[in-house]
Amino acid sequence: MIIESIITTMDLDGVVNIAPMGVEWGDEVIVVKPFLETTTFRNLQAVGAGVVNLTDDILLFARAAISSPQYPTAPATVVRGVVLESACSWRELEVRSIDATPPRSRIETRVVHHGTRREFLGFNRARHAVLETAILSTRLHLIPRAEIEAELAKLQIIVNKTAGPREFEAMELLTDYIRASRAHPPQSPPA
Ligand SMILES: Cc1cc2nc3c(=O)[nH]c(=O)nc-3n(C[C@H](O)[C@H](O)[C@H](O)COP(=O)(O)O)c2cc1C
Repeated sequence: MIIESIITTMDLDGVVNIAPMGVEWGDEVIVVKPFLETTTFRNLQAVGAGVVNLTDDILLFARAAISSPQYPTAPATVVRGVVLESACSWRELEVRSIDATPPRSRIETRVVHHGTRREFLGFNRARHAVLETAILSTRLHLIPRAEIEAELAKLQIIVNKTAGPREFEAMELLTDYIRASRAHPPQSPPA
């Protein structure tokens, strides 16, 4: 099963990176699959450790999907890394093996420590809708524009029915980003 998480990693100078990633879940082994061009891949490869943060703060997913935000953190207990203060719980990971076959790596890690900060609230449809929108926002170059607009319209209805203020803010942030990217599409690389 894939669990959507926020991975915190550090580079060799101690600079923290925060990125949403779906990870293959296990109690003792967690597999992370970052694309090779991501900072998460470079940091996991260089440092050999990271932290999987589980959170119900969907605004954090939205911001981290489209930018490189900084958030309050505390040092991890066992590995070289940090835990997000807004995490409900976390797993500290040690890298065991890396398959760096392009385009997407497969990094097998061992869970060496875990902890809990606060309760994870139950299912909320708006949060899941924002999560899907966050994923869309990272795949704009792969999905036809009409399909993106159709998805957005469906997801917005769910948000309108079931969101609180943070979910509305997160959805607005992502839809603004997606619509702005239509006005200024990324340049295609030369053939
Ligand atoms: C919910 C969610 C799950 C994601 N899962 C992955 C993933 O498994 N691997 C990946 O490379 N990118 C994934 N992404 C996209 C990355 O978060 C995005 O490319 C990010 O910019 C990479 O950040 P980094 O370069 O700071 O590591 C996901 C995005 C979202 C919103």
